[in-house]
Amino acid sequence: MNLRTLSCWLAVGVCATSMGVAGGVGAVVEDLPPPEKPCRILMLLPISCRSDAEVFVSYAEALAYRGHRIVMLLNQKPQRKNFNVFQLYHGLDHFRHDQLDALESPDGVLDLVSHDKLASFTREFYQLDEVKALYKMRKKFDLIVVHQMLSEVVYPFLHEMPFISFSTAGIDSQQSATLGNVLNPSFEIEPLLRPLDALKRFQSTFAHCFRLWYRKYWTVVPAVQKEISALFPKLPPLLDLERNQSLALVNSHFSLGSPLPLLPSQVEVGGIHCRPGQPLAGDVDAWISGAGEAGVIYLSLGSVGQPFSMSSQYRQVLTQALGKLDQRVIWRYKDEVHDLPDNVLVREWLPQQQQDVLAHPHVKAFVNLGDFLSIQEAVCHSKPVLALPISSQQAKNAATVRNSGLGLSLPWEDLTEDLLLRALREIVENPKFQETASEASSALRDQLHTPLDLAVFWTEYVIRQEGAPRLRSPAVSLSWVEFLMLDVLAALHLVLLLSFVILWRLARFISRLVCGSEKLKTE
Ligand SMILES: *[C@@H]1O[C@H](CO)[C@@H](O)[C@H](O)[C@H]1NC(C)=O
Repeated sequence: MNLRTLSCWLAVGVCATSMGVAGGVGAVVEDLPPPEKPCRILMLLPISCRSDAEVFVSYAEALAYRGHRIVMLLNQKPQRKNFNVFQLYHGLDHFRHDQLDALESPDGVLDLVSHDKLASFTREFYQLDEVKALYKMRKKFDLIVVHQMLSEVVYPFLHEMPFISFSTAGIDSQQSATLGNVLNPSFEIEPLLRPLDALKRFQSTFAHCFRLWYRKYWTVVPAVQKEISALFPKLPPLLDLERNQSLALVNSHFSLGSPLPLLPSQVEVGGIHCRPGQPLAGDVDAWISGAGEAGVIYLSLGSVGQPFSMSSQYRQVLTQALGKLDQRVIWRYKDEVHDLPDNVLVREWLPQQQQDVLAHPHVKAFVNLGDFLSIQEAVCHSKPVLALPISSQQAKNAATVRNSGLGLSLPWEDLTEDLLLRALREIVENPKFQETASEASSALRDQLHTPLDLAVFWTEYVIRQEGAPRLRSPAVSLSWVEFLMLDVLAALHLVLLLSFVILWRLARFISRLVCGSEKLKTE
């Protein structure tokens, strides 16, 4: 399908077929009553990595399954085909994840975010025919869903439209503040900073303020705003558009981290992309099933879709340690590996097939770089984790893995054969890791509705309620002076100060009176 057929496709009466089969932590969206009418939904992911797109596709397919029509604009080539999901690849590769090397740019796309790059991306984006056409027809959609990270460039689409945002990497304190829920830095704290002493809380407060200032006034927003103001002179400021969001879907769950106070407009859908495992390909299945009692360890590095050009030194460390294990190992890796031990099988497959391997009961542990979604998948399928973090974000996730008892972590640069072997043996032989993983998994599943059901319900709710203004927190319209009640506090201080002055004067007056009359008496 090309762009010309897109508008006809949107106009055609929608058929509620069950083309896409989707499933969350539980099952397919079947608990909800059928939708009142099929809707048109536009999903915008101008800058995203493969795993973000994967989460979006699960969500889009669930909506498609209900008969809605979805158009997705993304910077990834389409992964799966579904009649009701139209994936439009915009083709600009300024921030393409698969062109980054995990070791050279550990923070992935974030390493590339520079003022100039964002500005040129914004300019080129609005010169694309697909984008121009889509922008023109945006009001034909009933709802827009926007990826929460680095989507400022598409904010003009959101003007006078109901929209929701989706954070695929868990809660973001800035995003939460935009909805009127300022998370308190005394407990909304990064896992690396735990436990909470005074110094850590100071660091946390500083980090919160710095990140806010950095995005709003230093890099992302000013860079995009300048270009957008030139292209759309009448548009309200980007931050005002952002504040008009109806709802936020957040890929987190209180059972996966620390519970936080949330607004009714912040809906947790952690594990939305998890699904039951499907049968594996013949040779992989035979390899895993043939492992017997000892089981299998699954190794996948760089599941965010970055090529991972490991130096031969690290490859040697890995192969030598893996060769000494009693378990079989299945390693998802692109390149060929020489001198492979007999107990290791190397295969390359698509990220969505990863869950089929993880779901297999013979798989005993999951070794990864500590990406957010890999850890979520490990929990969904009750597997202990060995995280080998490279980037700072991965190090944070790895700290969560350690703190929660889900597994162990080893910073990538410290990796040695001995440490790796010891960590893997510890995870497989100590039953406490498997127990914790199973408990976490059962806590995540212990929900009234599946995350996919929740996401679909709230998406349709916002459409039915025409932007759901009743969900909006009154805090959204406050300035930070009003929010922190600085004006009220200032008034209180003034009253206190005045009362103090009056009391002091009064006391002086009385003491003079008393002293004066005593003086008279003595005279
Ligand atoms: C804010 O959102 C509502 C619907 O959610 C929409 O009707 C309104 O036009 C939006 N305002 C702006 C300025 O975009």
